[in-house]
Amino acid sequence: MRRLQVFDDLESLSRVAADGLAAQIREAVAARGRCALGLTGGRTPRRMYELLAERHREAPWGRVDLFWGDERYVPHDHPQSNYRMVKVALLDRVPVPPANVHPMPTDHPEPSTAARGYEELLRGYFRGRPAAFDVLLLGLAANGHVASLFPHQPVLRERTRWVVAVDVPADPPRRLTITYPLINLAHQVAFLVAGSTKAEAVQRALRADSEVDEAPAAGVAPAPGDVTWWLDRQAAALVGPEKGGV
Ligand code: 6PG
Repeated sequence: MRRLQVFDDLESLSRVAADGLAAQIREAVAARGRCALGLTGGRTPRRMYELLAERHREAPWGRVDLFWGDERYVPHDHPQSNYRMVKVALLDRVPVPPANVHPMPTDHPEPSTAARGYEELLRGYFRGRPAAFDVLLLGLAANGHVASLFPHQPVLRERTRWVVAVDVPADPPRRLTITYPLINLAHQVAFLVAGSTKAEAVQRALRADSEVDEAPAAGVAPAPGDVTWWLDRQAAALVGPEKGGV
């Protein structure tokens, strides 16, 4: 099922998303004992992570296992690190046990080796039970990339690997990313998208006839799962019930 929620601005979007994510965490813990949470980077989710820390310190953090959907291949204390962004906004402010936090490694000379290592970690984590993020957060860039699945890249055709190293036309170019075979196992996927520069990318992602090569978010279609789009008005300008886009 796909659900679209549109908010006036980033602040109200972030607040509802923080509350919605906390509810999804609680539901996963109630249903399956733990919550495997896939985190997104970029700038948009920062405020949501801050509000999650402020409003939901009492969430069952001891039972939440945190993974990243993509990472820039920079040291973990680098200003462009997705791990660092989440650490500062959220992890330093909630009682999550360090053993539950699984950043993508970025310290191996070969990114592809780091990608294999992270995939092994995930496969080990899910051993003995169905492999699936309980909740996977994703962002969307103006050029349509999601996680670090960029338009027209060979990784869009990956069918077996869960984590790969990619070279992308962005700064920084070296990144690790999860792939569709893992993304599309998730129970819940939630996109957070804000700003007018994203409106066309949102429209392309939601159109039934979009090519994954042009609009990688169109390939996000978890078989058993729900997809929620938390959008601000500007990002939703070209879609929504009133535009016949959903
Ligand atoms: C990254 C991301 C990426 C991000 C989009 C949107 O590391 O860059 O995980 O997929 O979600 O680029 O980023 P903004 O929120 O900064 O626009």
